[in-house]
Amino acid sequence: MPRAVITGWGRCVPPVRLTNANLERLCDTDDDWIVERTGIRERRISHVESTDLAELAARRALASAGIEATDLDLIIVATCTPEILCPTTAAMLEERLGADNAAAFDLNAACSGFAYSASVVTGMIQSGFVERVLVVGAEKLRYILDYRDRSTCILFGDGAGGAVFEARDTPDGAGVLSVDLGSDGELGRTMVWGHMGSKGDPSRTVDPEEARLQFEGQAVFKIAVQGIAASATRALERAGLGTDEVDVVIPHQANARIIDAATRRLGIDPERVFQNIEHFGNTAAASIPIALHDALEAGCIAPGDIVVLTAFGGGVTWGSVVMRWGDRVESLGTHHGELPSTEATVFDLLQPNLDFFAPDAD
Ligand code: UT7
Repeated sequence: MPRAVITGWGRCVPPVRLTNANLERLCDTDDDWIVERTGIRERRISHVESTDLAELAARRALASAGIEATDLDLIIVATCTPEILCPTTAAMLEERLGADNAAAFDLNAACSGFAYSASVVTGMIQSGFVERVLVVGAEKLRYILDYRDRSTCILFGDGAGGAVFEARDTPDGAGVLSVDLGSDGELGRTMVWGHMGSKGDPSRTVDPEEARLQFEGQAVFKIAVQGIAASATRALERAGLGTDEVDVVIPHQANARIIDAATRRLGIDPERVFQNIEHFGNTAAASIPIALHDALEAGCIAPGDIVVLTAFGGGVTWGSVVMRWGDRVESLGTHHGELPSTEATVFDLLQPNLDFFAPDAD
């Protein structure tokens, strides 16, 4: 049976930074509090659409794998902030990349979207239905944030990350070894974004209360710690591996304290846990592929390593993927394209949010 091996990786983070000092000007918060409670120092705010971020991450991942878009059988885009609902972001990517032989669909499992997508891909590769798949996590989360609401806006950033999965029959046993997925709709009420569905009738006006992301921070924190630890444990058990055999954990970058607490429960020491939340905050479905890219570029993954991807998100959903890394930790090629440049400041980019969500604030 073939296994799903990651052979290419890429990311696209937009250039405009939202620092903790910038946030101090927008809401009642401060750098010390944010760093101590979340580990985040800055995040990126996109001047383009999530499809544009996805496209560049995709081109970089394809170059890294050394394959052409026409080689792809399937494109999955994990996102909860698609530019539009239909056509899907994946279908738009199919056209932009010229991936003429690929099926394409979006997958929404919020922050667990990449882990869910990797699990779907694993099943399809193992059953022989597909051989080469591009998975992209892409988000423009600033669209749903009220930057006067300090309980939510400090956490999130925009970005995209992609990975190419290929079917391999490798004697070294590389590839995805096991997965664990789950959800709990009742707990899902702790984290809600009620906009952009077909609720109500077409003439309804958009209510800022519904259009802004809301969650119960402490409840989500606890659910996330328990959920990540339990899911990763189940996936490792299925793979017949102990936590002492794990070389690298790439967790969803929600909050440094969530990552620390969850991996402590797992009994995995911090040196084996990759974090880049300091630079990008929580980018939902994009966070794992961005972190995977950064871990590889930083030399944190070696050939043959046991790597665990683990996430928790809205729904609520959770997912973990255990894999043995292949023999290559360097990209085969590089895509040199860039996003269009911008002169906009971070405050220019956030002004529409401020006008919509909090028009009466100072
Ligand atoms: O992908 C999933 C998306 N959601 C999440 O990941 C959220 C998970 N939850 C968390 O990350 C944390 O719960 C938060 C970062 C949201 C909050 O951290 P916390 O340690 O749970 O803080 P808290 O809500 O218990 O608030 C502690 C204090 C409160 O003040 P009082 O009542 O003790 O006077 C808050 O009002 O900190 C205050 N506070 C802030 N202060 C400065 C809350 N947010 C802020 C802020 N800046 N941004």
